[in-house]
Amino acid sequence: RITPVLMAGGSGTRLWPVSRKSFPKQFAPLIGAESLFQASARRLSGEGYSDPVVMTNADFRFIVAEQLDQIGIRPGAIAIEPAGRNTAPAILAAALMAAQEDPARLLLVAPSDHVIPDAEAFARAVEAGAEAAAAGRIVTFGITPDRPETGYGYLELAGQGEGPQPLARFVEKPDAARAAEMLAQGNFLWNAGIFLFGAGTMIEAFRAHAPDYLAPVQAALDGARTDIGFLRLAREPWERLADNSIDYAVMEKAENLTVVRYSGRWSDLGGWDAVWREELDRAPAADGVVADANSTAIDCADVLLRSDSEDLQVVGIGLKDVMVVATHDAVLVAEKSRSQDVRQAVVALKKKN
Ligand code: GDD
Ligand code: MG
Repeated sequence: RITPVLMAGGSGTRLWPVSRKSFPKQFAPLIGAESLFQASARRLSGEGYSDPVVMTNADFRFIVAEQLDQIGIRPGAIAIEPAGRNTAPAILAAALMAAQEDPARLLLVAPSDHVIPDAEAFARAVEAGAEAAAAGRIVTFGITPDRPETGYGYLELAGQGEGPQPLARFVEKPDAARAAEMLAQGNFLWNAGIFLFGAGTMIEAFRAHAPDYLAPVQAALDGARTDIGFLRLAREPWERLADNSIDYAVMEKAENLTVVRYSGRWSDLGGWDAVWREELDRAPAADGVVADANSTAIDCADVLLRSDSEDLQVVGIGLKDVMVVATHDAVLVAEKSRSQDVRQAVVALKKKN
């Protein structure tokens, strides 16, 4: 059985004002009624999976516990990182914990802020990668790219064919020119950010490529204490860790990578334009209008109108390519092409206060 490891420590500032420091996007019901975190936990539950391990921080621990409880999923562990050090040490900690019981245990690391509507296609992809993972490979999942996105990792295919295959190279977040080149070359896929591997395999990869993490992460586990069901990793060794993602620390250097193509729908909801696209996919509208129950669009095209409250009605008239997102204490009005710049709002407001 595979142990899911849900990464739930990020803060998602590009989805302000719904995503907040204390309540980031993965916990908000952005698409449909469930949060992305709940949808991810559900996707990795049931037959073939053991109880999930959640890697998160102190601020989110009660949201994590409550949201899992709401959907009837019992966590295997909710581990609290004392400080944000990115995904590398969090994934190593999960691998070390699992290896204590069984180094051959397979872990499926998944972000908690992705939209993957076709659970069955996803389950088939995981199944396709299990054999390679059991044989000591680190399995990545590849998405067919459709634009020169610079916010993703790229997977260079070594061969042809549909089945799992060795990876020639992993390139994390290329610049715009490199991204355009790789798209044109045609033998690159996007890294979905989901990894399947044996616990011992990941520990060996750190030993080879990022050995400085091993001792402090082990010390943080050895010094961990259980606090009303949460596993609090020891602060002192954790704070000493360098901030780095698994992609830079391990994946770009590892030589035992395998890729499984995933051709179902996948989005990392990196901004409000992605939310707009996802909503349209669920409920197509010829004029491209996405308006929720508290919003009204009159003569609008390609707009996103949202309000969290029926006491705050949003009305758009004659708008095109505009997004309006209202919450109880903030309203975002932005051109759709500026979705990635929403993170500047958070920076600007911090300066003011
Ligand atoms: N527990 C924990 N601790 N989780 C974290 C931390 C941390 O310190 N930092 C980030 N995360 C979580 C985020 O909440 C998210 O679910 C996941 O780890 C990935 O982090 P991101 O910060 O969203 O990474 P990214 O989107 O820039 O890049 C990754 O994902 C892309 C696909 O969405 C990379 O793997 C890319 O190669 C990939 O293409
Ligand atoms: Mg992301």
